[in-house]
Amino acid sequence: MDKALTEFIDKLRSAIKKRTYVKLLLTKRVLGNQNLNKIVVRYVELSGKPHLQFVYKYDRNDEAKNFTIEDGITQLQSIIGNNFLDNYLYTTKEDLNLRYNNKNEGKIIKSKPTFNEAADGSHDEAKKRLLDTKKSVYFKSLGITDNKGDIIPSMNAKYKQVEKFVEIIDSLADNVKDCSPVKIADMGCGKGYLTFATYDYLTNNRELAVDMKGVETQENLVKFCNNIAQKSSFGGLEFVQSNINDYKPGELDILIALHACDTATDDAIYLGIQSGAKLIVVSPCCHKQIRQQMKITSNNVLEPALKYGVVMERMAELLTDSLRVLILNKNGYKTKLFEFIEPEFTSKNTIITAEKGEMPSAEEQAAIQAQIDAIKNKFGIKFHYLEKLIENPTDQSWRILNAQCAKSE
Ligand SMILES: C[S@@+](CC[C@H](N)C(=O)[O-])C[C@H]1O[C@@H](n2cnc3c(N)ncnc32)[C@H](O)[C@@H]1O
Repeated sequence: MDKALTEFIDKLRSAIKKRTYVKLLLTKRVLGNQNLNKIVVRYVELSGKPHLQFVYKYDRNDEAKNFTIEDGITQLQSIIGNNFLDNYLYTTKEDLNLRYNNKNEGKIIKSKPTFNEAADGSHDEAKKRLLDTKKSVYFKSLGITDNKGDIIPSMNAKYKQVEKFVEIIDSLADNVKDCSPVKIADMGCGKGYLTFATYDYLTNNRELAVDMKGVETQENLVKFCNNIAQKSSFGGLEFVQSNINDYKPGELDILIALHACDTATDDAIYLGIQSGAKLIVVSPCCHKQIRQQMKITSNNVLEPALKYGVVMERMAELLTDSLRVLILNKNGYKTKLFEFIEPEFTSKNTIITAEKGEMPSAEEQAAIQAQIDAIKNKFGIKFHYLEKLIENPTDQSWRILNAQCAKSE
């Protein structure tokens, strides 16, 4: 073991012992599985015993594995410097970056701490969680928790996404405190992780009367979820098999959607606006629709950057969501657009929150439309799916145009 690695590991041991450890991050992989991008190492307590949880971040998924502290350190000694060349130890006292050069010489760079709160290791302490995982029938049935009510390590990322999302709904719930029942729809609800958690939190923690629907195209998931809702005695929760386009919710108070695919997020936002929802909270998934239309126009100063596929991809995501936000503003919603969770839990971590306010005046709407048009012109975008839905919901001819754009990609 080289000198720098010895010091790095000593600092790691000391941070764990003194409870100043936050996390470890291993990046710049040079050996091993090509699809493995990085490893995040967290401190967790399992049945009261300290462990290191390695979260392996692959292109398409994450995998988690728990080690005792000593076994974890043995793992780290064998891969740091060999498989990973850029490694970060975060503690509440200092940050350490152990980097290897092309001669495989390690060097530690120290800097001020990024984080001021140490990992508390409360991996299995339900009392510290927003949602009670210990007694929950649905978390167990959904495969998030084991028989003891502890979160299964490989499901931790999903749990965290749901918990954070519910936290955000909670922070905005004053918008609906006078509604009884609060009418909620979760669009593209899949296995219903978020649906169950939101219903549970609002009824049992906030003590609100809730009438909630999970909307999903896949029949098997709808049956599966209705069965769990029954087992959980969630009388106000029902799952409905429907395409978002065809769903007629009547009036809604809250519309939510977590990772509804591509334009399904637009369909969900549109339904939220149409049904007068006081609150719309969506975390988009893939962003294909705008990307298919984007062109580098000759007056675009970003041309040298946009020739790179990755820049274009990310720009498409940012523009899709920025336009969604502007369209919501034009329709009387106050919006926020931000990352709701660290990317290690999901790379699809953007969230849009929209609270219904006053409808803008005709002049204000025209000003917002001018901003929308300017962005579209700059990037050669013919139309945004959500804009078309709102402009003319009955004329579906533009859907054909959209499908043609997708084919010519
Ligand atoms: C990526 S999954 C997300 C599921 C869930 N919201 C979650 O975060 O765990 C997207 C789900 O949306 C459903 N879906 C996609 N388009 C839909 C549409 N137009 N109408 C209803 N469901 C849709 C898919 O079947 C899938 O179950």
